[in-house]
Amino acid sequence: MTVPSRMQAIEIREFGGPEVLTLTDRPVPTPGHGEVLIRVEAAGVNRPDVFQRKGGYAPPPGASDLPGLEVAGTVTTRGPGVTRWQEGDQVCALLAGGGYAEYAVAPEGQCLPRPAGLSMIEAAAVPETFFTVWANVFERGRLQRGESLLVHGGSSGIGTTAIQLAARAGATVFATAGSTAKCAACVALGATHAVNYRDEDFVTVIRDRTGGRGVDVILDMVGGEYVARNLSLLADDGRLVQIAVLQGSTATVDAALVMRRRLTFTGSTLRPRPIAEKARIAAALADAVWPWLERGDVRPQIYRTLPLERASEAHALMESSAHIGKIVLTITASSPA
Ligand SMILES: NC(=O)c1ccc[n+]([C@@H]2O[C@H](COP(=O)([O-])OP(=O)(O)OC[C@H]3O[C@@H](n4cnc5c(N)ncnc54)[C@H](OP(=O)(O)O)[C@@H]3O)[C@@H](O)[C@H]2O)c1
Repeated sequence: MTVPSRMQAIEIREFGGPEVLTLTDRPVPTPGHGEVLIRVEAAGVNRPDVFQRKGGYAPPPGASDLPGLEVAGTVTTRGPGVTRWQEGDQVCALLAGGGYAEYAVAPEGQCLPRPAGLSMIEAAAVPETFFTVWANVFERGRLQRGESLLVHGGSSGIGTTAIQLAARAGATVFATAGSTAKCAACVALGATHAVNYRDEDFVTVIRDRTGGRGVDVILDMVGGEYVARNLSLLADDGRLVQIAVLQGSTATVDAALVMRRRLTFTGSTLRPRPIAEKARIAAALADAVWPWLERGDVRPQIYRTLPLERASEAHALMESSAHIGKIVLTITASSPA
């Protein structure tokens, strides 16, 4: 497959607002040992990209400085030692960076086949949220069939994935979101009930809806004063899983409550985890979740697509929080150099 020497990409010119995202020209990266080069057709936009653009979320050592944590496209080149993929394979991939570009390199274990029935745009919207939800709701949170889950930020990329996967896995799902329309979207995706947190106290509503028992698992991206409220809403042996701290990282915790109710408070971040860990999560997803995607039981929710060169608009839209689901950048091939 012919690969040009240079490519178009979006770089973070300096830390700041959406306008610092700038179209640039870069060398096409070379895949290292165990890596493939992907001709990118679509790249998912995630909230962590916004934090990186603002200077608060540096790429891990060795990762591309370009933003972009997930892509879908076609394998064009195999690095040394790659066994799993062939040139021409259509994949989606979890990246540590570099997705906002015409070409990106990914460790082979972080690639998965484009799910049958999904477009490249839909496939690009899968990796970051599906890896995150799997690792946090099902692994750390140990959610089981017949249990209940509360998802905060239910209309986010993460939230729309968590609602669908948990409902498909046989859990009862509750969600919070910031508008009536967002709550309706959560219910359409499989939540039993969604609370508009601007109008109602989610603790009161969900405690009432569970007959006073509370929920088994909570997936939270808010933090701050939500921590104590979340812990108070867990059932005995409940698990609170923290994946972000949008409202602050410090909290006051009633340790006696944790003891009395045998609660677990945990959390994780995906990006700094070792390649082998991400490959293990990929294998678990291929086994448990890819069949659901290919049957159409779960589907990434695409809110809007924009061409790569309009990445600034994509970030402004994400920061407006008007979206429900995912924003995806699309890339058309430029002629080989
Ligand atoms: N730990 C990990 O491994 C990991 C991986 C990926 C993402 N994340 C985190 O997960 C979160 C969601 O990511 P995403 O890409 O799905 O983002 P997203 O689609 O932009 O969704 C974020 C949503 O959170 C709500 N929100 C924003 N600011 C808030 C605040 N201060 N308090 C309460 N709610 C707020 C908004 O909806 P409302 O209108 O409902 O408020 C917004 O739509 C981000 O914080 C991201 O950093 C963590």
